[in-house]
Amino acid sequence: MRFFIDTANLDQIREAMDLGILDGVTTNPSLMAKEGIRGEENIRKHYVAICEIVDGDVSAEVIATDYEGIIREGEALAALHPQVVVKVPMIREGVKAIRAFHSKGIRTNCTLVFSPGQAILAAKAGATYVSPFIGRLDDVSTDGVELIARIVDIYRYYDLPTQVLAASIRHSMHIVDCAEAGADVVTCPLDPILGLLKHPLTDIGLEKFLADHRKSQQ
Ligand code: E4P
Repeated sequence: MRFFIDTANLDQIREAMDLGILDGVTTNPSLMAKEGIRGEENIRKHYVAICEIVDGDVSAEVIATDYEGIIREGEALAALHPQVVVKVPMIREGVKAIRAFHSKGIRTNCTLVFSPGQAILAAKAGATYVSPFIGRLDDVSTDGVELIARIVDIYRYYDLPTQVLAASIRHSMHIVDCAEAGADVVTCPLDPILGLLKHPLTDIGLEKFLADHRKSQQ
């Protein structure tokens, strides 16, 4: 399973890269706004800056919701850097655009997916990735991880090449649960990734090893 970081914060991307486990980045308009990136030119420069830090796919989301607009924006984003994957919302015009991008060899991430039916459509259209939002489903008392498992089963049954990118991850157990469900990729903020490191028995065990070593050297 690959790890993407879900942020537009360059320091956090560098920190995850430094850990040696980062395979890519996802962003969205809210995350770009959070970093104070304004204006088309700055947004494009920021995507290039992210691509220069990370060695892997970087999802850059279109703002347009009409077919022509999605195509225009998506082509411009894809031209920025070979690592850019065009993120397209799961709407009617988005599905059409994903099909068009697929035939032009432009890779896509179909975002805002909340049901197996939407995931089937994304795969039929030729999306490179599908992004089911598990945290937002959990927020409305629906099992987000179960959705990942169902999509993985469907894609495996029909041998569909679209990769399941589990998104909207809120905590470390989501990552473990998505791994068990067979997600190809998880994308999450830095904290849930760092949370995977933690176990009190690791800390207690290490403290004892180091204390015993110190005693043996006296
Ligand atoms: C995925 O690509 C989205 O950017 C993201 O995971 C959304 O997460 P949120 O529900 O925490 O905003």
